[in-house]
Amino acid sequence: MKFIPVNQPLLNGNEKLYLNECLDSGWISSEGPFVDEFEKEFAKRHGRKHGIAVSNGTAALQCAIDSLDLKPGDEVIVPTFTIISCVTAIIQAKAIPVLVDCDANTFNSTPEQILLAITSKTKAIMLVHIYGLPVDADPIIETAKKKDIFVVEDAAEVIGLKYKNRNCGGLGDISTFSFYANKHITTGEGGMILTDDDKIAKNCRSSRNLCFQKDIRFVHERIGWNFRMTNLQAAIGLAQLEQLDDFVKFKRKLGKKYTELLNSCPNLQLPIPETEFAQNVYWVYGVVLSDDFKFNASQIITKLRNKNIGSRPFFHPMHLQPVFRKMGFFKSEVHPNSERLSKQGFYLPCGLGTKESDVSRVAKVLCQTLN
Ligand SMILES: Cc1ncc(COP(=O)(O)O)c(C=O)c1O
Repeated sequence: MKFIPVNQPLLNGNEKLYLNECLDSGWISSEGPFVDEFEKEFAKRHGRKHGIAVSNGTAALQCAIDSLDLKPGDEVIVPTFTIISCVTAIIQAKAIPVLVDCDANTFNSTPEQILLAITSKTKAIMLVHIYGLPVDADPIIETAKKKDIFVVEDAAEVIGLKYKNRNCGGLGDISTFSFYANKHITTGEGGMILTDDDKIAKNCRSSRNLCFQKDIRFVHERIGWNFRMTNLQAAIGLAQLEQLDDFVKFKRKLGKKYTELLNSCPNLQLPIPETEFAQNVYWVYGVVLSDDFKFNASQIITKLRNKNIGSRPFFHPMHLQPVFRKMGFFKSEVHPNSERLSKQGFYLPCGLGTKESDVSRVAKVLCQTLN
């Protein structure tokens, strides 16, 4: 039986055509015209003024947090159930990450959890949309506005998703994306920052490019990084963006099929197809085992691997990360929903290159394993 990987990208549009344009013209660095075009088209698609392409989603978060000019001791609220990039961006800016738990069913932090964590030191809130459903952003944005708190939106996992008919990635003062190969559009590695704020945009453009200055190029007033996206990556990104609507439709088709096939499977919590605010876009098809089931997620992942099926565990919460504990962060924190999800949750093959027949096989094998 052929191995079914947890993700496969789909590169069937204009990717080759645009890449060949780069090769023919010699524009392979970040100076090429596709970077500008990709930034403009991506920003336009999200109704934003500025798009700043970067080398990956982690770099996007780092530039975004850096652009807020936080002071040591400023607090940034962030979910514990997320990728480490969210927290490292905060720590690198010498600010303090304040963690909040997530909802057991949507996997997203709730307005209640986030608003309770606000103190007089809160300078920013990081909204991270998890696994294909959006955070209920409006109550958070409303309070943040009143209290002069920045909203940083991490939309890496929900490209193409709408929250109350508005684009995710269009909600934050600054919003970030990843274009890693498992995202809804990919550039291999890559990322994007979107904002309507001219000052934030200028800061991000500068910090992604070593803070070179226009007239006195090699004289630097600030620390920056080389987080530039190449023309080659942007060429792929533009071709992918052209297909985004179809990609989103296809992801929903795979998600629906899994749900139909797994609905009667015992000991398994399936992802929510829709909430009051959005329809799941199934960045991943994440399932959670019952607490009293005899195996945990990592044991099931091994069993699936033995049947030639790839799957991945859920996030390991930030408050339990050894590296942060060693640094003195989050010492006695407990966030029960995130802790449970990290033990019991895993996700199944659901990439753009995943076939419907793959979904059928995965669902059948998983059901047999859980029965
Ligand atoms: C929510 C979220 N933010 C940021 C990132 C980091 O993106 P990258 O891998 O491009 O650095 C990821 C990666 O999957 C992610 O899921």
